[in-house]
Amino acid sequence: MNRPAFRGVKPPRNPIITGVDLLPRTDPKTVLRINDISVSFDGFYALTDVDVEVKRHTVHFFIGPNGAGKTTLLDIICAKTKPTAGTVTFYPVGREVVRLTGMKEHAIVREGIGRKFQVPSVFVNLTVLENMVLSLKGHKGIWDSIFHRVSEDEREQIDTVLQKVDLRDRREIKAGSLAHGEKQWLEIAMQLVQKPELIMLDEPAAGMGKAETEKTGEILKEIKRECTVIVVEHDMEFVKQAADTVTVLHEGKVLTQGNIHDVLADKTVQAVYLGRGGER
Ligand SMILES: Nc1ncnc2c1ncn2[C@@H]1O[C@H](COP(=O)(O)OP(=O)(O)OP(=O)(O)O)[C@@H](O)[C@H]1O
Ligand SMILES: [Mg+2]
Repeated sequence: MNRPAFRGVKPPRNPIITGVDLLPRTDPKTVLRINDISVSFDGFYALTDVDVEVKRHTVHFFIGPNGAGKTTLLDIICAKTKPTAGTVTFYPVGREVVRLTGMKEHAIVREGIGRKFQVPSVFVNLTVLENMVLSLKGHKGIWDSIFHRVSEDEREQIDTVLQKVDLRDRREIKAGSLAHGEKQWLEIAMQLVQKPELIMLDEPAAGMGKAETEKTGEILKEIKRECTVIVVEHDMEFVKQAADTVTVLHEGKVLTQGNIHDVLADKTVQAVYLGRGGER
């Protein structure tokens, strides 16, 4: 029998995975399938039966009130947290399907899934360019990055990405001297230069003013041409500006999902948001 290509776990040792045959068949546009994920922390279910398909080259938002389980879901995708039940499957272009559940975090990064955490983690004493070199070359590149030992080709790759986040002219500035928004964009650029197929951003516009938030929205719309973007966010104006698809989580469950207009028109969504006095 011709079985689908599959790697990433050893099925007999992982009770969640029951075999290759269970790999879901899927729409060719799907890049990530979150299948019936539940996670309990000592009996408290932070997520219950969460089922979501993320399509390639879209900006897919996860929204919902505080404690809805948004960050936990990102933690599940990148294997920082193990689910109690369910699976996450990645469908890269031109490569084998990968069952992410059960893999190690660093292995998931190598598959082409990047994540930007909420707290900026740039090296403040290095320049924008040095931070980018470091990201491109990995930790082995620390020496090279300090002496700018980069090939023409690498420099070009870096400049192309910096252009996208409008930081090309800021290359020689110390990251510590950048404005808050610029630091966030540098971090996005540091993910992008690794050429991920999927990038996850947890509240990228937190702490930004209106103009910076809008610019972040434009950046997301630009980068989705090259990769799929998953975003957790509270700011509804930002969601309206940049979202192709929205999944609303509430108390660990999917309340509804679809395009932004359908989601906003949904009475249960309105009740959840209005009931809590609305989000920012
Ligand atoms: N490691 C953990 N142990 C116990 N409970 C946890 C753990 N991580 C998350 N939780 C709980 O799970 C629920 C969901 O948390 P999560 O951080 O995913 O919410 P969120 O939607 O990201 O919220 P916010 O908008 O405030 O960032 C919360 O009630 C939280 O207290
Ligand atoms: Mg969170």
